[in-house]
Amino acid sequence: MIDFKGLFRPGILATRPYSPGKPICEVRRELGLGSVVKLASNENPEGPLPEVLEAIARASRDLNRYPDSSAFRLLEALAAHLGVRPDEIILGNGSNEVIDILIRALVSPGENVVFSEHSFIVYALTTKVHFECGRAVPLTAGDRHDLPAMAAAVDESTKLVIVCNPNNPTGTYNTRDEFLGFLRAVPRRVVVAVDEAYYEYVTAPDYPQTLTMRDEYPNLVALRTFSKIHSLAGLRIGYGVGHADLVTELHKTREPFNVNSLSQAAALACLEHWDIVPKRALRNEQERERVARGLAALGFSVTPSQANFLLVRCAGNAGQLTTALLHKGVIVRPMHAFGLGEGALRISIGLPEENDRCLAALKEILT
Ligand SMILES: Cc1ncc(COP(=O)(O)O)c(C=O)c1O
Repeated sequence: MIDFKGLFRPGILATRPYSPGKPICEVRRELGLGSVVKLASNENPEGPLPEVLEAIARASRDLNRYPDSSAFRLLEALAAHLGVRPDEIILGNGSNEVIDILIRALVSPGENVVFSEHSFIVYALTTKVHFECGRAVPLTAGDRHDLPAMAAAVDESTKLVIVCNPNNPTGTYNTRDEFLGFLRAVPRRVVVAVDEAYYEYVTAPDYPQTLTMRDEYPNLVALRTFSKIHSLAGLRIGYGVGHADLVTELHKTREPFNVNSLSQAAALACLEHWDIVPKRALRNEQERERVARGLAALGFSVTPSQANFLLVRCAGNAGQLTTALLHKGVIVRPMHAFGLGEGALRISIGLPEENDRCLAALKEILT
């Protein structure tokens, strides 16, 4: 008998696997429900544009060929859209992969990565697996990144700081001035990655435009994705924008064909239809504020959000509430895995009728 556990690094044995939001088909099957609403994974309920689906269908005719490893056309278009050079962009199989590449490429044993507690759980999981190199700094009382404390947590062994802005799962953001103060406080030898997965949803005027800060702070990398506002979560494509010298090294650690041909074609089509983005952001904002008011009327405490989800706290047990909602065909996410306590849950913003169903189900459960 082989002792397989003995083969692995301790960090891997100590890691609990990522637990995603339950898929709709599983809930339907398990509970025998006809229709189910998923508000658990911060996805875009509007789905991909027809033009994007057509681009995917066209690209699928060439699926016998490997994708363009250099993603030439997409990088040219994305760079032009962002006002950067193609050699300043690295694409990933989701921005998740770019986070993974940064950690694997930069951190040696004994070095560390600073990020915030109660943030995107992948930072904690990936750093745990990679030499247990994570260093999590508590949030402020207002559920925001404590940027001065994060800068103070940087030491001579820190290679990378990850700032999630807006933060998942709190939806809160740090302002331009706060972020610039943080950049000034962090030594230039430390890479600062700003995870902007929800960038396109933000409407706050004092939100930092990080791409404009890169000349002064070449240690800055912005991470974005086509999973959220562009509705391509199932295809897996995201990217990082950083200094060309940094990006050149990061490319060496990615799998040669990490971004498949359908993703490349779909992302290109998304760029051609960018006019939809502000409209989607506006619809999300209107629904988010309506849902927040509905939840507050039901007695929940709701953290102000700039993203497509709300962090909600109830007096009781959020796990039990989540199960009760599940039985009514509404999937939301309890937040104990994020360490936010028994009363916290995260509700993604759906279509108006989906949000209505969630609010109605909560009302029924609570009364
Ligand atoms: C903050 C944050 N970063 C990154 C991701 C991952 O995005 P992608 O689908 O591009 O891997 C998510 C997904 O939920 C997220 O919330």
